[in-house]
Amino acid sequence: MTPTSRELFAAAAAGKDTPRPPVWVMRQAGRFLPEYRKLKQKYTFTQIVKTPELAVEASLQPIRRFGFDCAIIFADILTVAEALGFPYDFAETGGIRLQKTVKTERDVELLEARAESVCGRLEYVAQALCALRRELPDKAVYGFCGSPWTLACYMLQGCNSAGFEKIFHFKKERPDLFERCMRAIETASVKYAQMQLGAGIDAFQVFDSHAGLTPQGAYQDFSGRWARGVIAAVKGKAAAVLFANGMSQRFAEAADMGADFYSLDSSVKLSEIRQKYGVGVQGNLAPETLSADAPEAVARKTRAIIDDMRGGRRHIFNLGHGIRPDAKLENVEAMCQAVFESK
Ligand code: CP3
Repeated sequence: MTPTSRELFAAAAAGKDTPRPPVWVMRQAGRFLPEYRKLKQKYTFTQIVKTPELAVEASLQPIRRFGFDCAIIFADILTVAEALGFPYDFAETGGIRLQKTVKTERDVELLEARAESVCGRLEYVAQALCALRRELPDKAVYGFCGSPWTLACYMLQGCNSAGFEKIFHFKKERPDLFERCMRAIETASVKYAQMQLGAGIDAFQVFDSHAGLTPQGAYQDFSGRWARGVIAAVKGKAAAVLFANGMSQRFAEAADMGADFYSLDSSVKLSEIRQKYGVGVQGNLAPETLSADAPEAVARKTRAIIDDMRGGRRHIFNLGHGIRPDAKLENVEAMCQAVFESK
């Protein structure tokens, strides 16, 4: 009998042989989908995130269209910043903007005071996850959060940035406050992960999107030591997945984080990483492929990754980064077909 998506995912997570890898794509609920853009004509991003029925609808859209094996809850890494007292909105010019940033000891005290009770202000996420779980008994459901480092990058800078200079300055000038800030975000993230585990998730992904900004050789000092706590809280209760963006080329620094799966970009060969480090891997098709190539090329590149990982053990098929808003629907279909037919 063909296993359900959820069974397939559980088998991959347990390191068993699977007929094919489970498949989903990072940022699968969002702007590349016409049905999401339609939803956005009626509601703002914040309304969708904070209204469980709408958040569930946004999470379900890519599942309905493509039959992905995994759904991810529709939220943002910045919802935790908001619940910690640092609300965000979208700037007129595009991009995000935090209404308040971490600058002083007083700000860090505010963070610390709110860390333990953060879930009280994130109940809408638990409600949406419970509803999504009910809607998708046969799919794997992912919860997620940002890593403490990545979240702190935004909470100090206040907006998107190429270099996030403020956090480097803060760490250097006020190492004591930096440590307290990171510890408070870790505490909040652990609580948030536990709340999501309570809603019945199958997997939990930590998005360390700005991992690659950490200096060579210093990933642990800047980021890893706090993300580790969040992964440990999930371990054994759901599959723990780490997306340490920009670390594929210096993976040795991030390989012992305790995660069940590491999400890798297209600059590495997955089979070599799995072999060398003995870890589960997620990835690693280049998102650009879905935007620029023809469907036949997408299918060929998809098959090449699966062939490289033959046996299908401890592999979750995904992109190397988030899908781009200009991704072509027929390319996502071609990618999915190639995975589904690979068994
Ligand atoms: O399917 C999904 O993944 C949806 C859930 C989701 C969103 N954001 C919704 C969203 C997830 C998992 C995220 C993660 C996220 N958010 C990350 C890590 C992933 C990565 O790509 O590295 C980061 C860094 C953020 C922070 C963030 N959220 C920024 C900088 C922005 C504005 C820039 C942009 O992309 O528009 C967002 C907004 C956001 N989060 C959107 C979505 C669908 C776009 C909002 C819209 O609908 O206009």
